[in-house]
Amino acid sequence: MNNIKLVVAKDYNDMSEKAAKIIFDHVKNKADSVLGLATGSTPVGMYRNLIEMHTNSKLDFSGVTTFNLDEYYPISRTNDQSYYYFMQENLFKHVNINPHNIYIPHGEASDIETECANYEKQIDKAGGIDLQVLGIGLNGHIGFNEPGTPFHSLTHAIELHESTIHSNARFFESKADVPKRAITMGIKTVMLSRTILLLASGEKKADILFRTLFGEITTDVPSSVLQLHNSVFVIVDREAAKRL
Ligand code: F6R
Repeated sequence: MNNIKLVVAKDYNDMSEKAAKIIFDHVKNKADSVLGLATGSTPVGMYRNLIEMHTNSKLDFSGVTTFNLDEYYPISRTNDQSYYYFMQENLFKHVNINPHNIYIPHGEASDIETECANYEKQIDKAGGIDLQVLGIGLNGHIGFNEPGTPFHSLTHAIELHESTIHSNARFFESKADVPKRAITMGIKTVMLSRTILLLASGEKKADILFRTLFGEITTDVPSSVLQLHNSVFVIVDREAAKRL
């Protein structure tokens, strides 16, 4: 596991601080870093720390470019459930990032296939992703790459599983309002990032974390592909590390 640097933090706040410090160091070293970002509950504390570092320690986002992992489709950027909206609220509107350097798949693109192909081109044009932040689903999904997604997949459109629509319905006015599709970076897109920062918090992630790091490398557990990457930071809290 030489390629994987595992850090067990005391709790969620400690995990969030340690993760933010890695991003801080990266951006201090390379002012024009290209960051891959995730939504979901896990990185919210890390974003809070980054905002504090921007305010108190002059962390400068003006040269940084970001690519988010995924977005619902179709969805408007003004919808408070869009990942675009999430990123504005949790990070972008609080720091000095250039809006032209923010990339999130367009939930309103007229042609979803073209949007996916363009997203890959934009990542290439930016020089590739230096540091990709990942959360992890209970089934090992990374981005919206559910079990069964091929490891060679690039940015692509997916149909949300009925179970995902059902569980996300609580965030929307009704189940009918949950978008049926999404755009996600593929597993290969993620693996092409130069460094990966995987975060996990809470006991409910303990089992999948064990399978991710020590289980069979299989498309049944998409996150297990990370064992094949040569530079991964895994920052987890004690609860998530229970089985390691
Ligand atoms: C988010 C994403 C997802 C989440 C995962 C974990 O952009 O791509 O893969 O990282 O579902 O979500 P939380 O952090 O809410 O447990």
